[in-house]
Amino acid sequence: MTASFDTGLRPADLDRARPRAVETPWGMLALYCVGDEILAAQAFCPHLEGPLFEGTLRADEIVCPWHQWRYSLRTGERVGIGALLAPGGQKLLLADVTLSDRGTIVLVNPHRGGERIAPTR
Ligand code: FES
Repeated sequence: MTASFDTGLRPADLDRARPRAVETPWGMLALYCVGDEILAAQAFCPHLEGPLFEGTLRADEIVCPWHQWRYSLRTGERVGIGALLAPGGQKLLLADVTLSDRGTIVLVNPHRGGERIAPTR
């Protein structure tokens, strides 16, 4: 099982205003700049696969541009009034982010709320 993936990108390669989608062994993830951190979460929405990474970033939450479901980039859970009124939906796939010795962004420990994820290829 691949438990880490070196994106080959450096933090300076990221645009703070625009999440960067990256193909990984666990599917397409997006890198988000949140304050001084880089967070990684699946790029497409668990609802109907809308382009979540093109949504609106509000602190450490992302709002899907299709039906405005809102997710925490820290827990992967749906949040906000929509989740209270119509709960459900799968948590986001997340990965921890670290830097390699050469300063590239490495994704590790892909998980969905504690459930570890095997690579898809
Ligand atoms: S596809 Fe994202 S909220 Fe529906």
